Amino acid sequence: AKPVLIDADTGIDDSLAIVHALMAKDLKVEGITTVFGNTTVEQATENTLRIIQYVNPGYDVPVVSGAAKPLLRLWDGPVHQVHGLNGIGNVELPKTHQKPIEEMAAEFIVRKANEFEGELSLITLGRLTNIAEAIAIDPLLPTKFKEVIVMGGALFAPGNIAPRSEANFYGDPEAVQIVIQSGMPITMVGLDVTMKARLTREQVNNTLNTCHHDTKHVIDYIQHTLEHYFAFYEEAEQFKDECPLHDPLTILVARDPSLVTRECKKVRINCDDPVSPGSVELDLVTGTEISICLDVERERAVTTLLSVFHKKRRFI
Ligand code: BDR
Ligand code: CA
Repeated sequence: AKPVLIDADTGIDDSLAIVHALMAKDLKVEGITTVFGNTTVEQATENTLRIIQYVNPGYDVPVVSGAAKPLLRLWDGPVHQVHGLNGIGNVELPKTHQKPIEEMAAEFIVRKANEFEGELSLITLGRLTNIAEAIAIDPLLPTKFKEVIVMGGALFAPGNIAPRSEANFYGDPEAVQIVIQSGMPITMVGLDVTMKARLTREQVNNTLNTCHHDTKHVIDYIQHTLEHYFAFYEEAEQFKDECPLHDPLTILVARDPSLVTRECKKVRINCDDPVSPGSVELDLVTGTEISICLDVERERAVTTLLSVFHKKRRFI
């Protein structure tokens, strides 16, 4: 199985992404680092520990707490209206005795990259603060990952937090610029594709009725947490009975790159724009080349996402 490291601000869609990565037989999650964003870093860590244990008490995935705020800026605080008071749509998952490991997330990222040099896929679902801090510890880090799949940014699509900014890039633009400029082999899974990859309430309900009995508790959790997400998008008058698959799509791209079409573009992050900080700008002169996803096969992405619920759980 492909070794992956996930960095998450464990909110609703992060939790769906994590569940999928844990259940997909072709991925091996080597660790999950957490970051502020949808919720506080403490809550993101607690959510992550509970989700892992809930999916399968046999899982032994190290969880490491990371940055509590952006590199340079003030943090606006949790986004309760999107992700609920506890980050996962106010669903109370069973408590766990598991604890995060005592290491800085940035150091853990460097350690894992060295352990799996050239083999590891880094998948980021939140602000890039931990990754920027890891680069500061080890300037050679960018050469050590096989690939870095980033949920964030919007090239042609409108922003979701400011006119031209996506929330993860807006939340720590300086960190994004450091990560992009480092030359890491980045695939950007931004709003250009995640807004198109949508899951419907009906697809979730159908999965509840057709899933393998071994996975029923997990899809049951997904249904409950997504209620909050569906309600937010409906209230915002964006979508009705459907939601975008921001974070889950990054995991799907790690598993099957053919789900998306992409193009290499030279970009830089605008850190100075007072209205839309963190916006992605094409820049042929000073930009750094990254691969940007521009289109996605929606139905195949959703089928792949939900297919893990039709199989027996993996136990490791
Ligand atoms: C991103 O922002 C967060 O709210 C989501 O979890 C996702 O990572 C979408 O803009
Ligand atoms: Ca996220």
